[in-house]
Amino acid sequence: MDRVRKDIENIGKIGKDPNGGVSRPALSEADIEARMYVMREMEEAGLKVYVDQGGNIIGIKEGEINEPFITTGSHIDTVLNGGIFDGVVGVVGGLETIRLINENKIKNKFPIALIVFTDEEGNSFTPFAGSKYFAGLLKKDELHTIEGKYENIKFGDALKRFFEKSKAKVIEKFPYSIKNHFELHVEQGPILEKEGKDIGIVLGIVGVLRIWANLEGKQSHAGTTPMNMRSDPSIPLAKTILKVREIAKKDIVGTLSYINVFPNVVNVIPGSIKLGIDIRSLDKTELEELEKQISKYIEDESEKEKVKANISSYIEDPVLCAEENIKTIEKSVNELGYSYIKMPSRAVHDSQIMSRITKIGMIFVPSKNGISHAPDEWTDWNYIYKGVNVLYNTLKIITEAKNNKL
Ligand code: HGY
Ligand code: MN
Ligand code: MN
Repeated sequence: MDRVRKDIENIGKIGKDPNGGVSRPALSEADIEARMYVMREMEEAGLKVYVDQGGNIIGIKEGEINEPFITTGSHIDTVLNGGIFDGVVGVVGGLETIRLINENKIKNKFPIALIVFTDEEGNSFTPFAGSKYFAGLLKKDELHTIEGKYENIKFGDALKRFFEKSKAKVIEKFPYSIKNHFELHVEQGPILEKEGKDIGIVLGIVGVLRIWANLEGKQSHAGTTPMNMRSDPSIPLAKTILKVREIAKKDIVGTLSYINVFPNVVNVIPGSIKLGIDIRSLDKTELEELEKQISKYIEDESEKEKVKANISSYIEDPVLCAEENIKTIEKSVNELGYSYIKMPSRAVHDSQIMSRITKIGMIFVPSKNGISHAPDEWTDWNYIYKGVNVLYNTLKIITEAKNNKL
């Protein structure tokens, strides 16, 4: 397990921010360095390593039959100023699982693929860019022409930069069928710690509604422009911040988390403001209603101020984990004697997208003080090791040839 800690710490050093935290947006220089670290470790573990046109790194361990595959993996991109565990635990956990399968001479009936998905966080291009390409929800041309948010570069050009630097073996797309997919992840919330449990077996993953609005007002002098002659986009912005707070209730969380003010100068009435809202619920119809309600609210409040609102939005549907996978993980945890609860995931994950093409299952380990997407993100090593053991045992149960008669 020393290897797990070493890998997480080594990856955590790449893209470190000067005052704590890590910034490794997908396909940035830092992300490419981290990708190359993982690719080397994958090769070291005997995997055949490929990269597809979505930038997903795919390490293959052959089985006794050619397909279907069992897949596992997560992401190594981070949010800006994030922590070292989010996503990385699932990738490093998958790597360690492969090493243990090799060392313990487990004969796997099904081939296994360890996948590092691109831009799960969407801080560089678009959320789930890699997993959406993998699942066929985003076509290559569509994906490659997306403009970067972090750097002024198209996805296709950033990908080319990575291909050249890594000398990766490029494939168009993963061509095989997948039987089951498993992802190990930190919980990123406070439940497991509060309940004093080692492991969370995920029942389903929350849905997310994102609303982006460009509020176009009239840029003008903050001193000389009378109050009744203004088109100030900060007024609908302020009202929307409070509106989002108001709609959040027991099972819905809402945050107005992105604000970009132009020109952002103290003696100028802003000319335009871009805002981004993140709302989550396990209930899809609730998200659909809120999408309409909040979009209308932004339009109405903008109109009152003579501000033009351009709104776009999308919903990532909530999904359920497969009963079959929940049972396999439960068996795995019970064999190891760890304590656990079954719970929903209130963060979103690549597995959400993988659920479109296969049966998914997720394993959570506790997050200290429930903190994530922040430099203070932490999980005690002893929980990380337990999580890795559960992933290993789960894959062992599901792939081992002697349990799966040919
Ligand atoms: O936003 C999320 O829930 C995930 O961590 N990307
Ligand atoms: Mn995240
Ligand atoms: Mn994550």
